Amino acid sequence: MIVHTVAELRARRRALPGSVAFVPTMGALHDGHRELIRTAREAADHVVVSVFVNPLQFGEQADLDRYPRTLEADAAVCAAEGVALVFAPSVDEVYPRPLEVSVSTGRMGEIVEGAARPGHFDGMATVVAKLFGMVRPDLAFFGQKDAQQLAIVRRLVADLDFGIEIVAVPTVREPDGFALSSRNRFLSPEERKTGLALSRALFAGREAVSEGPEAVLAAAQPVLDEAAKAEPALRLDYLVLADPATFTPVAPGHRGPAVLAVAGRVGATRLIDNLPLEF
Ligand code: PAF
Repeated sequence: MIVHTVAELRARRRALPGSVAFVPTMGALHDGHRELIRTAREAADHVVVSVFVNPLQFGEQADLDRYPRTLEADAAVCAAEGVALVFAPSVDEVYPRPLEVSVSTGRMGEIVEGAARPGHFDGMATVVAKLFGMVRPDLAFFGQKDAQQLAIVRRLVADLDFGIEIVAVPTVREPDGFALSSRNRFLSPEERKTGLALSRALFAGREAVSEGPEAVLAAAQPVLDEAAKAEPALRLDYLVLADPATFTPVAPGHRGPAVLAVAGRVGATRLIDNLPLEF
């Protein structure tokens, strides 16, 4: 069942007995999304999926314009996965008037990925807050692939008392390790080959985990340096070891959990990836 307005969504949502799990997406669904939906189905009586390409979280108009929109195929994926309700609103439905009030993600939204994409996390958190208010789920499912987004959504829910359980779902990878993303479809075979350096760098870093944070970064960096010399080249934005809850880079000698996160561009496509580690 696909609905396009908030009024239809609310009416259908009210009629769902039992618990509701929510999977917010921007569409172009792939196996990573299927994994989110399957995990959500196991946890609740019904799953609601939103498909909305949120203009507020895009810095560049060109990136927003070229973001894949595949609603028919997305609806088919949701039907096959037993989703109760797909909410696919227009931009005017979500933003019927200019916002006076929106979510500020503060310092957490300005560091690491936020430094490369100013305003991105405020836009993301604002639409997630709006979608939570529209869907009113009991639980919501987010991919570990967007680790900083996950950390910020957890703080959004904790700091603003949404009373929604946030569940993280591990990243789904292709057999060679490449993390699934809706943007992968833009990569030429040569660009994909260069982009594989992101996951290879993370795996190289993980090999050094017993030697501490500095050794992890030192093991990952050469893989990225090599890709920076390839044709087409990787243009690295960052390689960082961050606290998974705050995304602050960890201090040398850090003990406990950390996320090794990497981002860069190949051609016109921006790629991100990360691995959770324990020191
Ligand atoms: O991860 C995404 O696809 C988006 O950032 C989200 C959570 C659907 C908000 O637009």
